[in-house]
Amino acid sequence: MKILIIGTGYVGTTTGLIFCELGHKVTGLDLDEQKIQALKAGKLHFYEPGLEPLLKKHIEAHNITFTKDTETAIKENDLIFICVGTPQGTDGSADLTFVKNVAKSIGQNLNQYKVIVTKSTVPVGTAELLTRVIKDNQTAPVPFDVVSNPEFLREGSALHDALHPDRIVIGTTSETARTIMRELYKDLHCPIIETHPKASEMIKYAANSFLALKISYINELARVCDKLSINVHDVSNGIGLDHRINPHFLKAGMGYGGSCFPKDVNALIHTAKQQGTPLLILEAVVKVNAEQPVYVIEKIKQALGGEVQNKTIAVLGLSFKANTDDTRESPSFILIDRLLEEQAIIKTHDPMVKSGASHQCMTIAETVAGADALVICTDWDEYKNLDWAGLKSLMNQPYIIDGRNMLDKEILEGVGFQYFGIANQ
Ligand SMILES: NC(=O)c1ccc[n+]([C@@H]2O[C@H](COP(=O)([O-])OP(=O)(O)OC[C@H]3O[C@@H](n4cnc5c(N)ncnc54)[C@H](O)[C@@H]3O)[C@@H](O)[C@H]2O)c1
Repeated sequence: MKILIIGTGYVGTTTGLIFCELGHKVTGLDLDEQKIQALKAGKLHFYEPGLEPLLKKHIEAHNITFTKDTETAIKENDLIFICVGTPQGTDGSADLTFVKNVAKSIGQNLNQYKVIVTKSTVPVGTAELLTRVIKDNQTAPVPFDVVSNPEFLREGSALHDALHPDRIVIGTTSETARTIMRELYKDLHCPIIETHPKASEMIKYAANSFLALKISYINELARVCDKLSINVHDVSNGIGLDHRINPHFLKAGMGYGGSCFPKDVNALIHTAKQQGTPLLILEAVVKVNAEQPVYVIEKIKQALGGEVQNKTIAVLGLSFKANTDDTRESPSFILIDRLLEEQAIIKTHDPMVKSGASHQCMTIAETVAGADALVICTDWDEYKNLDWAGLKSLMNQPYIIDGRNMLDKEILEGVGFQYFGIANQ
């Protein structure tokens, strides 16, 4: 099958390479000249473990090519995946500008039957909307089908997730399109859910919102555990081993961030409000999440005797989670902005993110030098086993606030640090 991926960002690039692995020929289309040039040269424009070697392999094997030529790319391919961004609009809804622009181009260039698949996360009703936009822009009545096929990969383990999905969701009312989609995924062994496009679109939002809910639940519970001197990790473990609950997304920390959960939870809340059935649970999830970096700041203040003004705070980790350089909606930046508002002096470090900010340091030692407190904001492996005694000797005061509950409290206290975790007793 000749496959076109429109939008070669995190999802589009990964999806394209997975289809190459499954034996298909892929074209990646993007409007961003720099991204296309980098991809053509075998270089990823973002960090994702394991993906760059795969990119090089499939370029060399001529399985994947990249282009900016929308017209030719649409005309020459049979199966078109829309992987463009759906950022949050000002009212919380998903902004469909990019998706609608793509649909318009598809309509204008439709020369034979094609299946158009939305991998972008889009609200309920988008498959119908895109069908209308494509029809409105056609110059001749060429048949086509629109399919909803949401993506569930996680940045940081995108390759594994895309090759070993828990399930594949195919939302279409067309038997022809359904058969083509089944054929496409025939070598991936997992349950396939075939449903209406509206249900498929809802599944993606419901899944992300449920995971966000688990995170806010454990974070809020951790605040109570802190008051009661209970180790929240034991609670997570104790409930997570119940297979009805499962252990994932039950780690207390800085709150969720990234390019998906924040905008997707808000978009579902918006959809529900439009239907006159507000999702009160999700409204609470958002509120709890917004408070979590503030809770971590309270810990910093507790360590420093109530004030952060003129105190030097070393922040380790800028990406919203480990193994990615994605900083979209990262709780680190919420924390940094708040601390700067309160006139703290900030120094930051991240192994992958190069923010260009004047407060960013090259090494961990440089970051902590002269600091009154060190805050762990991202759970990078390389922050787990540092030379703590050495780092302590560089600091002004020996306070560690572990926003990810990832460090060994006993080791830190053993070298003279005072340790503050999130109900990490
Ligand atoms: N990032 C994730 O982990 C993830 C996971 C699952 C689903 N999603 C969803 O997938 C979608 C894409 O997310 P992403 O993180 O890959 O976004 P991204 O911003 O990294 O990439 C989107 C790309 O689309 C390109 N683009 C925009 N308009 C275009 C057009 N008309 N023609 C060609 N290219 C165009 C942009 O230049 C950009 O490179 C979003 O809806 C997102 O919610 C993301």
